[in-house]
Parts: sequence; structure tokens; C-alpha cells
Amino acid sequence: MPDAYILGIESSCDETAAAVVRSGEQLVSNVVYSQFVTHRPYGGVVPELASREHLRAIVPVVRQALDDAGRSYQTIDAIAVTQGPGLAGSLLVGLSYAKALAYAVEKPLIGVNHLEGHIHAVLLEERQKGNHELEFPVLALVVSGGHTHLFLVEGKSGAWRYHDVGHTRDDAAGEAFDKVAKLLELGYPGGPAIDFLARHGNPQAVKFPFAQIKHHDRNPQNRHADDESRVDFSYSGIKTAVLRYVETHDMREDINRRRQALAALASPAREDYLAACDQATLDLVASFQHAMVNDLVSKTLLAVREQDAATLLVTGGVAANSELRASFEQRASKEGLGVYFPSLKLSTDNAAMIAAAAYPRFLAGEFAAPELSADAALRLR
Ligand code: KG4
Ligand code: ZN
Repeated sequence: MPDAYILGIESSCDETAAAVVRSGEQLVSNVVYSQFVTHRPYGGVVPELASREHLRAIVPVVRQALDDAGRSYQTIDAIAVTQGPGLAGSLLVGLSYAKALAYAVEKPLIGVNHLEGHIHAVLLEERQKGNHELEFPVLALVVSGGHTHLFLVEGKSGAWRYHDVGHTRDDAAGEAFDKVAKLLELGYPGGPAIDFLARHGNPQAVKFPFAQIKHHDRNPQNRHADDESRVDFSYSGIKTAVLRYVETHDMREDINRRRQALAALASPAREDYLAACDQATLDLVASFQHAMVNDLVSKTLLAVREQDAATLLVTGGVAANSELRASFEQRASKEGLGVYFPSLKLSTDNAAMIAAAAYPRFLAGEFAAPELSADAALRLR
């Protein structure tokens, strides 16, 4: 099989990214332009600003990825692009650009689901390390700012297939990190800020109980192999619990003081946020993260047992969390379960994962029709 060089393009949220991957197993170049400076003043992604930034960045980012790879438009074999899910306006920028480029340089176009991309970030790096055989059944937890999803993965031959065996009923886990960080004025994006600050607090100081959501579809007619047993998540309650804690413990004044102290700095560093937090805040942050991690790990391991999975993949932006990684590694090893994460660089949004996920489709000749359109709510199957 000759080598195939796939150019990946990703623009589903607030990162404009392009990458070249060889045959789904070697990262050749990887360029990520993050818009966090644009969105930081708002404490969250502003969709209109995101599309505008993608428009400005898409051409130079793609050129840079090709230059870094030492490839031209003519010496790539296919173009892969994120079709969804994501912000409609953001998706449209990458998709329209990829379509026009594929047409102009006469290369096949492959539409990729963003969540499948996150799963293939792990597979790409495992192949790069020489690990080509994963033990099936494989369960994947995709946990990011927009998603908290458990998929049972089938990929032994031909195209990969995914069965939804659990997802969040409301907020995504990353969204909870971002909202709690915003409430407590801890910096943006919230996940990495909390990850850093939590190391300085007591994770046992505040207890946040989670409900066990387990749903069995009792109607045999609705029953499929993949939904007989589901493990669902819910992360909107913990955000309210943190807010209630802030109100009942008179932490408002402290938060306002922190906002003012940090507003006086041109570009505050993590250490500045740390210096602006008292011990009660650090304890609250550490307890919040500990509760989130415990819930994510416990429910995922429950799903592993329900599905009798032999391998677990944990991926998406929140998979960069240090406590989550340590907890999964420790608890999975006790159960003799193999658990794999992407490197920190490929945990958050990137285009290498899109190019890697496209490779099996490239081999199968599954190319997109010229009318391929963005789908903000695209489901993974
Ligand atoms: O995968 P991603 O880049 O974008 C989406 O597809 O949503 O994930 C971004 C999310 C944000 O919510 C961010 O706060 C969270 O991942 N995140 C983290 C960490 N790094 C990023 N959450 C917890 N701990 C981290 N170290
Ligand atoms: Zn993502």
C-alpha cells in the first residue's frame, strides 16, 4: 500500500487548524491557531467572532501546515474536513474552504465527524508508537467543551462504527469547568486554569454529590444491542451547587477583589491568579475538580463493565486534565483495563485527528459528494 498524505482542516469551534498526516499513522505537520485571546474578555466562545477569526486564519494556517510538511497542494492525496458537530458559522468556513480547494486542485474530499476525530487522535499516536493492535471491544470517552459522550467502537475491518452507550443529558464536562472558572474569576479557558489551581487546594474540603443516572429501556421494541444498558452524565447541577456555595459562604466580595486585581494586569499569568485566590477558593476549586473527575471515571468504568470492554480511550479537551488522567490510570489498572489518552497537544482541537480519522475512508474510497454541507448537530454512528 503506497503512502497517503492527507491534509486535515478543522474549524468547528474556536481553533483554526490544519495538519498533514501520513497513512493515518504519522503526524507530519500540525498547525493550531487558537482564538482564545479573542474570546477571553467574554469568558466563553462568541460564535460571530469565531467565524470571523476562522476567515482570517484559514488560508495562512493551511499554507503553514503544507509548508511544515514540505508538501504542495499537488503532493497531497486527499483533503479531510470537519463536517460537524460544532458552531454552524465556524464549520462553514473550514468546509467551504476545503470544498473549494479540493475542487481547484482536483483532490478527493472526505467529511469527518469531529468526535470521530477526537477518537482517532489516540489511534494516530498509538500507531505512531508502533501499537497497531487494540484489544476489542473498545470503549471511548469523548470529553470536551461541547461533548461528554461514551461510544462503543467497532473497527476491526473496513470503516469504523460507533454505538452511543451514554452521554450528558445537559452540560458537557468542559462546559462545567469553563462556567465555574468564569463564576470564580479564575481565567479563560477554565479547564486548564482549574487544573493548575486545584493542585493548591484540598479536594476533600467540599462534598459535591452526583446522582447516578442509569437508564434501561424497558420497552423491548426499542431495545438495541447498544442501548440495553446506558450510563448517562449530568453536569449542570454542580455548577449551581458551586454558585450556592459561593452565596452561602460570602465569597462574592473575594471574587470581585480578584476581578479588580487581575484587570489591573496586562496579561495575567497562572501565578497571578493563584496569588489572587484565598485558601477557601482553592479548596472549592480542588473539590469541584475532584468531584468532576470522580464522576467521569466512576461512570465510565461502570460502562466498561456493562459493555465488557477490553480497552478504554479517553479523549477531548478535558482529557488533558492531570487529575483525570491519574485517576483513570490508577483505577483502570486495578481492573486490568488498558487505558489510552492522546498527548496533551492532541487532546484539544486539532486537524491531525481529522486527517487520521479520514484515512480508513480514504482506503475505502468513501469520498464526499460536491454538495457536502456542514451539520452543526452531526451524530456519530
Ligand atoms: O476538545 P476541545 O478543544 O474543544 C471541544 O471540542 O469542545 O475542548 C475544550 C474544552 C474546554 O472546555 C476546556 O476548558 C477543556 O476542554 N480543557 C480542560 C483542560 N484543558 C482543556 N478541562 C480540564 N482540564 C484541563 N487541563
Ligand atoms: Zn473538540
